[in-house]
Amino acid sequence: MQFFYISRCPFQFAVHISVFGARHLIKCVPARLHMSTSLTWNRKDLIGIDPLSREEVETIFTAATAFKHAMEADDKKQPYLDGCTIVNLFLEPSTRTRLAFEVAASRLGADIITMTGNASSLTKGETLRDTAQNIAALKADMIIMRHSASGAPNYLSKVVDIPVINAGDGSHSHPTQALLDSFTLLEKFGRLDGKKITILGDILFSRVARSNIICLQKLGARVTIAGPSTLVPKAFEAMGVKVCHDFREALEDADAVMLLRIQHERQSSTHFPSLGEYTSMFGLNKERVKWLKPDAIIMHPGPINRGVEIDSEVADSDQSVILQQVTNGIVVRMAVLHLCRCAYKNQPIDLPA
Ligand code: CP
Repeated sequence: MQFFYISRCPFQFAVHISVFGARHLIKCVPARLHMSTSLTWNRKDLIGIDPLSREEVETIFTAATAFKHAMEADDKKQPYLDGCTIVNLFLEPSTRTRLAFEVAASRLGADIITMTGNASSLTKGETLRDTAQNIAALKADMIIMRHSASGAPNYLSKVVDIPVINAGDGSHSHPTQALLDSFTLLEKFGRLDGKKITILGDILFSRVARSNIICLQKLGARVTIAGPSTLVPKAFEAMGVKVCHDFREALEDADAVMLLRIQHERQSSTHFPSLGEYTSMFGLNKERVKWLKPDAIIMHPGPINRGVEIDSEVADSDQSVILQQVTNGIVVRMAVLHLCRCAYKNQPIDLPA
């Protein structure tokens, strides 16, 4: 028997969890954070956002909230993955995602080994399948993978039995980025139903945009995508978003704006005349921030290109939550690692008290 319920008191929620008989009380959950009433998770892999139900997304946030409160109470070590070995297979550059997974695994008590593309035998012609099967033969308990090819983590999950977590594949998906972005928005707004979120920039080549569009809509938000028509084609309307090529109009009623960098590494042709021209038309500077509502927040998954899609004054302003996103990346990834491990071992979900 598994149940989870929320009771409301004047200043905060007290969340009582009973999971297979284990009882916990999570105090100080942000009063504005609207959460699921049940824990729903039986996936060993996290490949994308699309297959997840809203309840599954909210289960990740419930676990992340519990880890966040433990972190804030300086109870950083939560050894749910004690004895586990995780391989962080990063075949594309990364700062935030790679380090956040390393920190998350370490906080959970796991040993984590990071392998990068140029340091692996992939450079000698070994296939991804053989690489993954060798990692499993070395008794790793989980693989986290970033790859430039869309679909690579899904393929990996079919060739090894252990959990596979997608840390970004080509222009397809970046599920933990979308989850940490929505988690950050929920901390600000409590719930996302009806909130207007504008995603601005290189949508065409962005796995972050695709994952965020899906995740935000699952949580009830209304998404506008904006930027030059070459990078923000009308075809995206099929995903249920509003496509807007007018910068001012895209900002005016937004509750949050999420900026994306130009992904040169995925573009094989020119989509605008020059970076300078992109900046002059779609760069967010302090004058254009005035088009936003005063309480709107500014987000960016990173890496930011200062002076291109965002000016330093904006990136470092009080409206910016860019570094809060990075910090939330730890607890969201702790939640994902813990939940996938529980599902793989067919164990009940236990969370910090
Ligand atoms: N947001 C993001 O994926 O950043 P990294 O490429 O540094 O991991």
